[in-house]
Amino acid sequence: MTGDRPLVEVRDVSLSFRGVRALSHVSFHVDKGELFSIIGPNGAGKTSMLNCISGRYTPSDGAIYFAGREITRLKPNARAALGIGRTFQNLALFNHMTVLDNILVGRHHLIRSNFLTGALYWFGGAEREELKHRRAVEEIIDFLEISHIRKAIAGTLPYGLRKRVELARALALKPDLILLDEPMAGMNLEEKEDMARYVIDINEEWGTTVVMIEHDMGVVVDISHRVMVLDFGRKIAEGEPDAVMAHPNVKKAYLGEDAAADEAPAEADGRSAVAPAMATAVSGSRVAAQ
Ligand SMILES: Nc1ncnc2c1ncn2[C@@H]1O[C@H](COP(=O)(O)OP(=O)(O)OP(=O)(O)O)[C@@H](O)[C@H]1O
Ligand SMILES: [Mg+2]
Repeated sequence: MTGDRPLVEVRDVSLSFRGVRALSHVSFHVDKGELFSIIGPNGAGKTSMLNCISGRYTPSDGAIYFAGREITRLKPNARAALGIGRTFQNLALFNHMTVLDNILVGRHHLIRSNFLTGALYWFGGAEREELKHRRAVEEIIDFLEISHIRKAIAGTLPYGLRKRVELARALALKPDLILLDEPMAGMNLEEKEDMARYVIDINEEWGTTVVMIEHDMGVVVDISHRVMVLDFGRKIAEGEPDAVMAHPNVKKAYLGEDAAADEAPAEADGRSAVAPAMATAVSGSRVAAQ
């Protein structure tokens, strides 16, 4: 479809909010089939970047391409229709609706409803269409193991399960690209392991390209193909997880200048001793932020 072009291309994107520079000349690409993570300290611009790709924000400068087509100024709905799905850092479910209905809402871009399909309804086409949607939703429910809560009201579910339902809703769009904003935040270890497995399967079995923001460095290193690091709105490193974690700029961003200097010897053998310390530093900052 895209030949050799990357699925996502972000070129020199900047974004400001009344004087606050959230993103500054950020460029990167994500290849089809990649599991790409964006990391960085709180306020680094990670969610802003995802919002620029999903269409929630329009960059003040620069351009974004999806499957070879410029989407910089397209509305979020138009991007969803092109195959860009997302989940939110702060859950965005219809709390009063059932799990099943929440997931069906995710399919609305795929439900043909116009004058012509209105006419088709009378000839039985709509029933077939509905059956097709139900089947697709059932597949997602099975995959994410949420069959037992399908009739539950979303708002009554524990946080970890709501995160999973939100993922189900994003998947219902059958996206080629899925943007995940901290899919494991606030989860216990077991829930995190489950979620990491789902993300890997979405990527490997379903062939969906993934861009994930995540603060848990262990998970990021374990499952990402490539990682980009943002700090104060700028890209400070990008590459394979181990190399990125060992990058002096990354240590400095997470641990401060002095700590980075203390860590310097660990770089000599090409592996970083900073990842566990970063994980602690980062989870500490998350606790403070919540
Ligand atoms: N809608 C907005 N209006 C004003 N400022 C914003 C808005 N969205 C983001 N910002 C600012 O842009 C900067 C980057 O925020 P962003 O939410 O992208 O960071 P983040 O890396 O996702 O942080 P976190 O890890 O805490 O989620 C911050 O200074 C933030 O206050
Ligand atoms: Mg964020």
